[in-house]
Amino acid sequence: MCGIVGYIGKNKAQPVLIEGLKRLEYRGYDSAGISILEKSKVKHFRALGRVSNLESKIGEKIFDGRVGIAHTRWATHGKPSVVNAHPHASCDKSIFVVHNGIIENYLELRSGLKKKRHVFKSETDTEVVAHLIEEKQKKQKDLFNSVKSALADLRGAYGIAVIDKKFPDEIIVARKGSPLLFGVGKDEFIISSDASAILGHTNKIVYLNDGELAKITRDDYRVFSLESGYVNKKTTKVNWSQDGAQKDGFAHYMLKEIYEQPQAIANSLQGRVNHFIDEGLVRPTLGGLAPNRDIENHIKKIERLVIVSCGTSYYAGLVAEYMIEECAGIPVEVETASEFRYRKPILNSKTAVLAISQSGETADTLEAIREAKLKGALTLGVVNVVGSTIARETDAGVYNHAGPEIGVASTKAFTSQLVVLLLIALSLGRQRDMSFIDGKEVATELKRIPQLIEAILGQDKEIKKIVSKYSKYKNWLCLGRKYNFPIALEGALKIKEISYVHAEGYAAGEMKHGPIAMIDKNFPSLFIVPKDSVYEKVISGMEEIKARGGKVLAIATEGDSLISKIADDVIYIPKTLEMLTPLLAVIPLQLFAYHLGVSLGYDVDKPRNLAKSVTVE
Ligand code: F6R
Repeated sequence: MCGIVGYIGKNKAQPVLIEGLKRLEYRGYDSAGISILEKSKVKHFRALGRVSNLESKIGEKIFDGRVGIAHTRWATHGKPSVVNAHPHASCDKSIFVVHNGIIENYLELRSGLKKKRHVFKSETDTEVVAHLIEEKQKKQKDLFNSVKSALADLRGAYGIAVIDKKFPDEIIVARKGSPLLFGVGKDEFIISSDASAILGHTNKIVYLNDGELAKITRDDYRVFSLESGYVNKKTTKVNWSQDGAQKDGFAHYMLKEIYEQPQAIANSLQGRVNHFIDEGLVRPTLGGLAPNRDIENHIKKIERLVIVSCGTSYYAGLVAEYMIEECAGIPVEVETASEFRYRKPILNSKTAVLAISQSGETADTLEAIREAKLKGALTLGVVNVVGSTIARETDAGVYNHAGPEIGVASTKAFTSQLVVLLLIALSLGRQRDMSFIDGKEVATELKRIPQLIEAILGQDKEIKKIVSKYSKYKNWLCLGRKYNFPIALEGALKIKEISYVHAEGYAAGEMKHGPIAMIDKNFPSLFIVPKDSVYEKVISGMEEIKARGGKVLAIATEGDSLISKIADDVIYIPKTLEMLTPLLAVIPLQLFAYHLGVSLGYDVDKPRNLAKSVTVE
């Protein structure tokens, strides 16, 4: 949520900052801004909307400055506008700040600073930080100590980068509750809220922890803890390349990422199932779940699992509930992370709390994990972004290995989450009652999923045609049962997110308890109805909709000869094990939502009001 980029080094800052902003634009795109230190001046530009608007405002000029900061915003305090865009400046226009997060006591600080004659230009919480640093500088004189002193007065969450034209050879960065890291290149440092802005320059990264700040100069960096002073911080080598972050000829990242799913799933499986299938091992190899003997033993003894996650990752958790209960017989509860922390979760040492997060930075999920730790539960993670905060803070976990996901609407991260969660279910199952033969059957079929998804992608043109038949409708009911109930929820979310068409996900069996009242010829339903143990029940629901004049689009199993007699249109998916049907059923839904959004003329990679990775509560 919001993107920060900073640069200090031997090269011109502006191209690096603009390129970084473009890479981070998926995190927020309400407005963008840049401040570059050039000699004794600051070149400062801000624009409403996309980074391209900022570029137009700057024009052809490439400034010579070698130090600068930039920001792409997702509005929290104050509407999207030029004056609310970052960087924000102090009264004397010397100090410039970019910030992610929320300063909770900004009103109080703002009124105190106004009394000291500071003049505010924006409605944002961030602007107080610039004025507060300016105020502190009256005593502290240097930039580092004035930032440090200002941070002590802030409540809430921040990732910040600060420059000051009086101190042109340094950038100060700090983090509490909002990600901040920097890449260490050759004679240069690139600061960011997200490694994807850095990877074109270096893969040596310093991740700040909460409560740390750093002074970065042209040839060195020093990291300090706000509490305990100097920290000897080493770089971490990140293996992601930037290749995954290009569109590769696809019209949108979302489409590219939908098409990448066979490969992403193969990557999630790599090195984890083969030995299991070949009978060399009794369970899948998930090294991340057994980083040491204590944790491995702890996991063997857990009696209850609580899954915390948000949005699409929450729906992955709902599918995992069915998988883990079926494979391992461990009771599972799935909770939206934003609710978990504010009630009284009952946790003990036999409960493990599993966070699912593509970004590994979602504030609600992170805080839920921290709450679980406080209560003595073992914490686990299923995370895509390597080195992200949730990955670092959980006791053990498994990476998706799906590669960077840039499209705001999650697609390949979701299916790779399902795969990893199923491997965890098999692993937990094999530690308990699941037989080797049962586990092997699931794992062997799981290995076929990439090729089955390829076959569904081959129907993209037909799906697009079906969309053109249905694009006039303003409301949808998405229905599924058992393993595919969460997929109905996910399908409805995808439709809402990128086409702004109202879609409601519902358990197919619940539909007759209320939503059916909405059905008429203008309110179609989308049924997920593979040949599984609840097939006939779902068919009954479909008949009930048809009897009331509702149109039905169905996602069904190849070879099902009955379905086309009931549904108005059918998209077929290959036959697989019931437990694996969610991995296939979601693909036509993703394509359907994508083509609907595009046909209605929307930018599906940057849906309005949304941002990838929600790092505020
Ligand atoms: C929907 C979507 C969001 C995220 C949610 C959690 O397409 O992408 O609902 O799933 O914000 O994000 P992560 O998984 O990064 O914690």
